[in-house]
Amino acid sequence: MPVRVALIVGSLREGSHSRAIGLEMKTIAAPGLELELIEIGDLPLYNPDLETDAPPAPWVRFREEVETTEAALFVTPEYNRSIPSALKNALDVGSRPYGHSIWQGKPAAIVSVSPGALAAFGANHHLRQPLVFLNMPTMQQPEAYIGNVADLLDDDGRLKKDDTRAFLKSFMDAFAKWIDQTKG
Ligand code: FNR
Repeated sequence: MPVRVALIVGSLREGSHSRAIGLEMKTIAAPGLELELIEIGDLPLYNPDLETDAPPAPWVRFREEVETTEAALFVTPEYNRSIPSALKNALDVGSRPYGHSIWQGKPAAIVSVSPGALAAFGANHHLRQPLVFLNMPTMQQPEAYIGNVADLLDDDGRLKKDDTRAFLKSFMDAFAKWIDQTKG
């Protein structure tokens, strides 16, 4: 049975480079990993007052979908040197109700993506902070900083360069090993 991995993309934009990279990684991943794209764009902003017997339906859908996975791959752009608010909101929604976090113990990996040369380093490292608190063992090496991303994708959002594809394949192979070592 392949290991099911939640693929969480930090951008909501239809033409998102991050989404394109995430979808490419889905095809690149070793057969032992099955990446499941889980949408975050419809999640109402986290508000504890909505945490009733009938929380918002998108929260329920999101929590149930992530619950069916054993690990999480975050592919995110950088907004103002941090992670996009939509991604932080998804982390918050998944972390509650208290004691029922869907993230608890799930192995994770991070790919940061930017059209700029700094490759969303700030977002990559800011994301690591909540993942520590959420008790998600997060792969440290190899790191994946995808800079100048517009040069790497064709008009259909497919990777143009074999060396990028090979790098992302090695990253996913390492993640498969990491999941094996760290999952509960
Ligand atoms: C950006 N962008 C950006 N890029 C970056 O490398 N560092 C940054 O701090 C920021 N800050 C930022 C803030 C906001 C509000 C927006 C909308 C954009 C540019 C960003 O990398 C670019 O729009 C990417 O194309 C976003 O990723 P997707 O949507 O293509 O995946």
